[in-house]
Amino acid sequence: MVTETMRNKITVVGAGQVGTTVAQLCAYKNLGNVVIIDILEGVPQGKALDLQQSGCLQVFDSIVTGTNDYQDTANSDIVVITAGLPRKPGQDRADLLKVNANIVRDVTEKVMKYSHNPIIIVVSNPLDAMVYMAKQVSGLPRERVIGMAGVLDAARFRTFVSLELNCSLVDVDAMVLGGHGDSMVPMPRYTTVSGISITDLMTPERIEALVDRTRNGGAEIVKHLKKGSAFLAPGASAVKMVEAILQDKRRILPCTAYLDGEYGWKGIYFGVPIELGAHGMNKIIELDLTEEEKKMLDISAQDVKTTIDEVDALLAAG
Ligand code: APR
Repeated sequence: MVTETMRNKITVVGAGQVGTTVAQLCAYKNLGNVVIIDILEGVPQGKALDLQQSGCLQVFDSIVTGTNDYQDTANSDIVVITAGLPRKPGQDRADLLKVNANIVRDVTEKVMKYSHNPIIIVVSNPLDAMVYMAKQVSGLPRERVIGMAGVLDAARFRTFVSLELNCSLVDVDAMVLGGHGDSMVPMPRYTTVSGISITDLMTPERIEALVDRTRNGGAEIVKHLKKGSAFLAPGASAVKMVEAILQDKRRILPCTAYLDGEYGWKGIYFGVPIELGAHGMNKIIELDLTEEEKKMLDISAQDVKTTIDEVDALLAAG
C-alpha cells in the first residue's frame, strides 16, 4: 500500500498570488503532496480545496491541504516561503525590509519547529535579505537555503531575446547574476540562442535595451497591474527549482546562494549559477568574468551587503 509519507511533501508559506501559483504548479506536475499555510484564516483552506477539486480535471494525485497550523507542515521535504506584505504607498524600502524580515523570521522559526532538515526556497522580497534571514534563523547549511530570483530574471531576459529575434523561446538560454534588484547583472556573453551568443546576433544597443528591460521586468508588470505584482512567472520559476530538487535533476540555474568567498564575497546571498539537485545546492559555478562584468557584480554585491547588514542589525536587536 502506498502511504502518504512516501510522497514528497511541499509546504508553501503564503496563500497569496505567488504561493497559490506555486501550489497549483506543484500539484499539476504531481511533485508531491502540498500544504498551503497563511496567517489569514480560511484563505489557505479555501484555495487548497479549490485546487484539490481540479485534480480530477488536471489529473493529479497530490493531496492539497490548507491550514493555519504549522503542525500540518511537519516533515516537509521542501518549504517555499512567499509570505510577505507588499510595499504601502509612502513606505520606504528600509521599512518594508524590516516588516518582511520579521515575517520571514517568524515563518522560518515555525517551519523549523516541525521540519528538521527541509530545503527552503525563499521568494519573498527584498529577496537577498529575506533568504539570508531564513538561513540565519533556520541554522540549515547553505546548500539547503536558496533564493529564487535568477531563474525569473533569466526567464524575462530569454523572453525579450526571443521576441526581439522572433525565434523560439525554447532555443534561448540566459544568465542573470547579482542581487535581485536594480543592480542585477544580465550577462549577454552567456546568453545564447542554440549555443550562439546574442553578442553575435544583435547590436550592442539592442542588447543594452533588453538588459534594461530585464532589470525593470518586475516594475513594468507592477505598472500595468497597478495593484499587486507579478506572480505567474515568479511561481513557475520557484517550481522549476522545486522540480530540480525533488527529481534530482542537477540543473544548472542562476539562483540566490550564500557566498563563502566565491566571486570575491563572503557572507552574502547573491545570484550565481549553481547546480541544483536532491541535496539542494551541489556547487556554485564561478564564471570567468571580464573587468567590466566584475565591476558591475561588485556594485550589486555592495548593494546587497547593505540590506544584509540591516538583517544582521535586526537579528542582533533580538
Ligand atoms: N505567515 C504566513 N503568511 C503570511 C504572513 C505570515 N506571518 N504574513 C503575510 N502572509 C501572507 C499574506 O496573508 C498573503 O496571503 O503572505 C501572502 C502574500 O501574498 P500576496 O500579498 O498576494 O503577495 P504575492 O504577490 O504572493 O507576493 C509574495 O513574493 O515575489 C514576492 O515581492 C513578492 O514579497 C512578495 C512575495
